Parts: sequence; structure tokens; C-alpha cells
Amino acid sequence: MINQDVYNELLEKYKAHYGKAPTVVSYAPGRIEVLGNHTDYNEGYVFSAAINYGTFFAISTNDDNVNRIVAGDLMHEVTFPLTGATAVTKDTWANYVIGTVAGLNALKPQDKGFDAMFLGNVPMGFGLSSSAALEMCTAKAVCQLYAIAADNVTLAKIGQAAERDYAGCPCGLLDQISSLCGVEGMLVKTDFRTLDIETVDMGPSVCFLMCNPHAKHALVDGQYATRRQACEDAAAYFAKVLPHPVAALRDVSMAEWEAHKAGLDATVAKRAAHPIGEDERVLEGAALLAKGDLTGFGKLLFASHESSRTMFENSCTELDNVVEVTKTVEGVLGARLSGGGFGGSAVVLVETDKAEAAAKAIAAAYNAKTGADCEVSMIQPSRGASIVYPA
Ligand code: GLA
Repeated sequence: MINQDVYNELLEKYKAHYGKAPTVVSYAPGRIEVLGNHTDYNEGYVFSAAINYGTFFAISTNDDNVNRIVAGDLMHEVTFPLTGATAVTKDTWANYVIGTVAGLNALKPQDKGFDAMFLGNVPMGFGLSSSAALEMCTAKAVCQLYAIAADNVTLAKIGQAAERDYAGCPCGLLDQISSLCGVEGMLVKTDFRTLDIETVDMGPSVCFLMCNPHAKHALVDGQYATRRQACEDAAAYFAKVLPHPVAALRDVSMAEWEAHKAGLDATVAKRAAHPIGEDERVLEGAALLAKGDLTGFGKLLFASHESSRTMFENSCTELDNVVEVTKTVEGVLGARLSGGGFGGSAVVLVETDKAEAAAKAIAAAYNAKTGADCEVSMIQPSRGASIVYPA
């Protein structure tokens, strides 16, 4: 089993805390966003992958008519009622669980409370979606324990609503879908209008590094929401000026943007260019991967970062420096910020046989350029969320 040591630690801690064994244990991974930035809520396309870091969630029912959730790293316990639970202001990690359970409750009310604990190894603040991993392992475990039938799209939407209503971030569905639908060794290409998912095998010659320069990363401070609003304002404008229907920026091409951008507020126009360009890059990337052109695919990652930096302005100096230094490192094919932005990590596409040396070279070059440290981790595209106990 992947991350067996984390699973073992969770079982031990669960037994010590609750004096019993769990009935169900689930697992959900974090994700990397490979190409297609801020396209999900614009009904566009994304290449992503579930990763080899994730969170386990252990649960059993109780007779106390209350839900208990313990964060296994902090060993803090939060209790909340079976129905009508609201967001907490202390131990705010619990909001991802409370919000997800509230969504599942609306599908099928629970008749008994639960005793639960989670433990994971998704590095926090890396932009690897530790919160979506927590929501999706909560969802999988609660569905199994209470025999709630729900497909992956329903679970992803419940996680998204938890982020919005309990944690304050109006995110799209990317993180949850990636955590649920990952396949070992594969990229996941999602169409966020139809929610059709394809898996794409990049082959063994390339892999990913995540580079974290430890810039502050906060999606809930309003930046994400203002970017999303600008995209929606731009879509409403294009719906008026274009001769065909526009439900979202997915329906607008770069050529149409170019022809009509003058009618938009200059900042809104710049913001809109990013997801429109990203959609085109994902489709071009799919065609390049089909031909096995990994060098061409890597160049699209660099172009994506440039668009983030100059048009969407969701990068930061630290991430710009990481991407810049990767261009000097042998074996690197492409690099870009991954996820919401304003901090977090850069994802690097690298030739597998040069990956270890490249990881060291990136950290050294970053340090030489900035005097600061950049943490580099190897990422393997991995399977999505599942029930791990009972097997
Ligand atoms: C965050 C959000 C996702 C997506 C990305 C940007 O990860 O949670 O829904 O919008 O940012 O692509």
C-alpha cells in the first residue's frame, strides 16, 4: 500500500485515542496541476495528476449522537452535531471535514454519530491540495460507513461546496476531481464543462518535480475570488459582443479576445487572456503528447507560467525565480506555477534519468540566485481516492 507508514501510525493513534479499531479507513491523494491554470471554473481543460502523497481517514460509528474528528498530527479533537453544523473559527482544518459531512448529510442523513481521525503526508502550503485530499478521504469514508451512494462528480461538488461555504474559497472542481480520478503513472485530462475525463500516458522517460520556495500561499485572502470575478465579468462581455453563445471563457478563442479586448477594462482583459490561452495550450499539449513530443509539451509549461506572470498576475517573485532557474538546468523540459498561485510550488517536467541531478541543481541554482532555499520533491502520478480498509 502507498504510504503504509502513515496508515500504520493512524491506526495506532486511533486505537489509543478511541480505545477501539476503526470500521473503515479511506485514502485520498493530493494533486499537481500540470497545464491549464484557472481554467476549471471557466469550464475549460486541465492536465493534472493525483500524487504519491495523501491523507488517510479512519472512522467508526458511536452511540453518543455527536461527530468527533481528530487531526492525527496535532491530536486536537473537534466535535460537531449530526445536523446543522456550522464552520468553526478555531482548529479551522475541521471545516473541510464538517463541510463535506454536511454535504453528504443532505444526500442521506446519518442516524448515528462517528468517531474519526485523519493523518496524511501531503505537504501543506505547497499548493498540492492537502485540503481536497482531506475532503475526499472524508467523503469516501463517510459514504462507506453509512452506505451513501454517490458518484465521483457528486463527491467533488460536495468538496467544492465545503471549500466555498466552510473555508471561504470559491474554487473550481480541479483539486477534488484530480484526487478522486487519478491513475497510477498517468496524467488526467479533464473537460470541466462536460466533466469527461481521459487518462494520458506520458511514458517513463519524463517525471515531475515540485519546487517550493516557501512563499506565502493563501487562496482565501480574496485574490482567487477577484480573479474568478474578472473572468466571469469578461465572459459576460464576450457573450454580448460575439455572434455565438458564450457561457464561460471556454467559449472564447485568443483570436476573438484579440479582436474585442479593447472594449474591456484593461485589467479584466489581461485576466481573461490567461484561461483562454491556457485552454488553447492544453489542447495543443494533448496533440503534442499524442505525437510523443515531450519537448514541445514542456515549452507549453513555460508559456503557461509566462501568462500567469504577466496576464493573470497570480505568480510571485519566488515562483518566477524558480521557473527562471529551471531553464538553466539540464533535463528540464518545462516549469510553471501549479494551482491557485500567489505562492505554493512550481511543477517541473524533467527527463527521468536526469531528475535526481536536476533536483539538486535547481535547489543550488535557486540558492545562488536568491540566497534562499527551495525544497524540491519528486512526484509520481498515482492512483486516486479509495477505501483501503476493509480491503
Ligand atoms: C486552486 C483551485 C482549483 C483551480 C486552481 C487553479 O487549486 O482550488 O479549483 O482553480 O487553483 O487552476
